[in-house]
Amino acid sequence: MDSIDNKANYRSRTLVTDYDAKRRIGEDDYVNSLEVAYFTAQVQRLTGPTGSVIDMGAGTGKLSLAFARLGYAVTAFDQSEAMLERLDAKARAEGLTIACRLGDIVADAPQDPVEPAHDVAVSSRVLMHVADPDAMIGHMAALSRKGIVLDAPRRASPNLLLVKARALTGGEVYRCFDDRALAASVTRQGFRTIDATPMFTLPIGLHLALGNKALSTTLERGLSVARGVASTLFLAAERTG
Ligand SMILES: C[S@@+](CC[C@H](N)C(=O)[O-])C[C@H]1O[C@@H](n2cnc3c(N)ncnc32)[C@H](O)[C@@H]1O
Repeated sequence: MDSIDNKANYRSRTLVTDYDAKRRIGEDDYVNSLEVAYFTAQVQRLTGPTGSVIDMGAGTGKLSLAFARLGYAVTAFDQSEAMLERLDAKARAEGLTIACRLGDIVADAPQDPVEPAHDVAVSSRVLMHVADPDAMIGHMAALSRKGIVLDAPRRASPNLLLVKARALTGGEVYRCFDDRALAASVTRQGFRTIDATPMFTLPIGLHLALGNKALSTTLERGLSVARGVASTLFLAAERTG
């Protein structure tokens, strides 16, 4: 196992201040709208229009707020107090209630079987940052009665080069995943992959910089033949037993 564990990077209040603006969270942005649309479609498929969702590494609430707006009972789990405070403030401002739980996805993963307390466990842009991705998938599996939905940067994409360049220049280094190994990790937890979709042929950072949903849509459609090297795998899996 390598030494990647980026959780400390997300505890700073300074980072939380411009986190949403930098990632265009809450805006009618190309990347966010595709991400949220994927997660909501898969959760609806797994549990229907009602149910409970736990958002692991919820951050400032990109997914938690979307699910709460749709009427799901949402629990936001994160190790960063600053992130959860921001999420809670945003939820209250909209008159929504989201249960917030502070904890570590890896260190607090149950060692023995527990009764799952949520219908679906979701997680966006977190697996790439944790010390032990298998333990995180095990934690999500332990908490969910029906299924899990997550995303991960792909090794079979320019992401790997970006990460290697960052390792040299000092930027945040994250983990990239082999599609099959990721699906196998989910299978080991007693789940069956029901969808695995690669998205974002151009780098996500480029779309964020463009800030033009129509242009990003046109570019990605034009590059659909190259979807095999898209940067991120979105995966949904249902409990088999
Ligand atoms: C890149 S942010 C993603 C936030 C949100 N899911 C989103 O898509 O905007 C990563 C989040 O995962 C959380 N995180 C990272 N490692 C964690 C761990 N070991 N336990 C709990 N949360 C963790 C961080 O605190 C941060 O809020």
